[in-house]
Amino acid sequence: MTDYTSWRVIGEGTERTCYQNPVDQTRCVKIIRKSRVKQTLREISYFRYLIGRGVPFDHLPKFYGEIKGGGFIGIEQELVHDLLPDKRGTSPIQASPTIRQYMAVPRSKEEIRAFWKAVNELKAYLLRYNILAGGIDENNVVVQQTPSGIKLVVIDGVYDTEWIPVSKYFKFLGRRKMERRWKRFLYWLKIDFPQVNLVDPLAESQA
Ligand SMILES: Nc1ncnc2c1ncn2[C@@H]1O[C@H](COP(=O)(O)OP(=O)(O)OP(=O)(O)O)[C@@H](O)[C@H]1O
Ligand SMILES: [Mg+2]
Repeated sequence: MTDYTSWRVIGEGTERTCYQNPVDQTRCVKIIRKSRVKQTLREISYFRYLIGRGVPFDHLPKFYGEIKGGGFIGIEQELVHDLLPDKRGTSPIQASPTIRQYMAVPRSKEEIRAFWKAVNELKAYLLRYNILAGGIDENNVVVQQTPSGIKLVVIDGVYDTEWIPVSKYFKFLGRRKMERRWKRFLYWLKIDFPQVNLVDPLAESQA
């Protein structure tokens, strides 16, 4: 059986550790450390549900499957990394930074403008496909460089916490729930990273 813990650690959350696949560096596995498997199981079933609905994974890591082993459970997915042609071939492939890591260094006004544009694009995507990102926050969203600019990808927190997932099936309820969650996300973003206030996000959504 594969010993994932011998793979390179690319990130650690409160519950899971994310390891890079040494053979295909664009893939990673997330292994649950404690006996708290609920989040991962919920995520797996939610990803399968999205795939079944034909939702494009534009702002989500591609889902490759479930991993089960003695006493642990895991998820295999795309390792979100920067897509810059000049960096191709560098080894190992680095994971894109989380919003927290990205905002840990001073950003120019242009970069903040691009950031808000990316935030608005993410919101439009989540609402368009009625995707519930109940756990969205600055550690669970990564900032990916692409040839056409930055893109936000939700790497954790995409699931539904409701026992009876009403919002999943009724679009307007899902939308209301998402709007509430989104407000909280933006509230903390502006407090934790004052530099984002360099640019008015609303101006960017109209641009
Ligand atoms: N698909 C991915 N691509 C790139 N980096 C990732 C990916 N998945 C996870 N990471 C990195 O690993 C860290 C931990 O992963 P994840 O957020 O899934 O763990 P968690 O324990 O569920 O987090 P939380 O503390 O939010 O509960 C992330 O913050 C991120 O830095
Ligand atoms: Mg996380």
